[in-house]
Amino acid sequence: MRTRPLLVGNWKMNLGPAAAGRYARELRDRLSPTSEVEVWVAPPTVSLSEVVSALENTAIAVGAQNVHWADAGAFTGETSPLFLTSMGVRFALVGHSERRTYFGETDQQVALRTEGALKAGLEVIVCIGETEQQRAAGTTESVLKAQLEPVLACITPEYAPRVSIAYEPVWAIGTGKVATTAEIASAHLFIRNLWGRTHCAGSAGSASEPTVRILYGGSVTPHNFAEIAATPGVNGALVGGASIKLEQWLALIDVAQAQMQG
Ligand code: PGA
Repeated sequence: MRTRPLLVGNWKMNLGPAAAGRYARELRDRLSPTSEVEVWVAPPTVSLSEVVSALENTAIAVGAQNVHWADAGAFTGETSPLFLTSMGVRFALVGHSERRTYFGETDQQVALRTEGALKAGLEVIVCIGETEQQRAAGTTESVLKAQLEPVLACITPEYAPRVSIAYEPVWAIGTGKVATTAEIASAHLFIRNLWGRTHCAGSAGSASEPTVRILYGGSVTPHNFAEIAATPGVNGALVGGASIKLEQWLALIDVAQAQMQG
């Protein structure tokens, strides 16, 4: 398993170009050059260019919050993965629960977006997670499986090293309710096993190669992250609210760094 934690900030529909540029320049200036934590940020589409230029020649990767599967065409309001790579964007989130809930994205569309992004050379973070009702009904694992299987079917061994999974229980996103470490450990193990069993991605899980990186997401803060980071199978976090306030984001990076040293 990779030991270097990955923290991904999902800014959602916050920080337009001017504010995002200011934030990114301050992050660049204040992030310790010796930090071993991998830091990625996903600004809104209109702010990508500002943030990419502010973070040029740093180790901080910039990503999109969504991506279309086609290289170009009649898809009003969508963003081509090739446009993203050409402007220096390194990764894309796909299947965030807000995209699924408010914009009706299906598991098949999430798989198409994943494949298009990988084909264009992006890294991808595939977001999955159950609702409160699904957890209460005991269907968490079948939900995760249904969300992940179409994605796994399009991940070839060549693409596998560029894929991470974010396990984000929908009921924990932006609510202040955090999944217990037992819930997180069990979901991550389930996802890892599903990944390992997949024919196409099988070679990525061999003993000599790192298995898939799985992030937890949902109300992560500097106060709760040490416990989450120490949970078996957790390789980092996808963070919304606490990533758009620079002080909290830097504090979170410090917690991850301390965890690595501890
Ligand atoms: P949150 O959001 O940290 O504000 O709960 C997480 C996410 O939506 O990725």
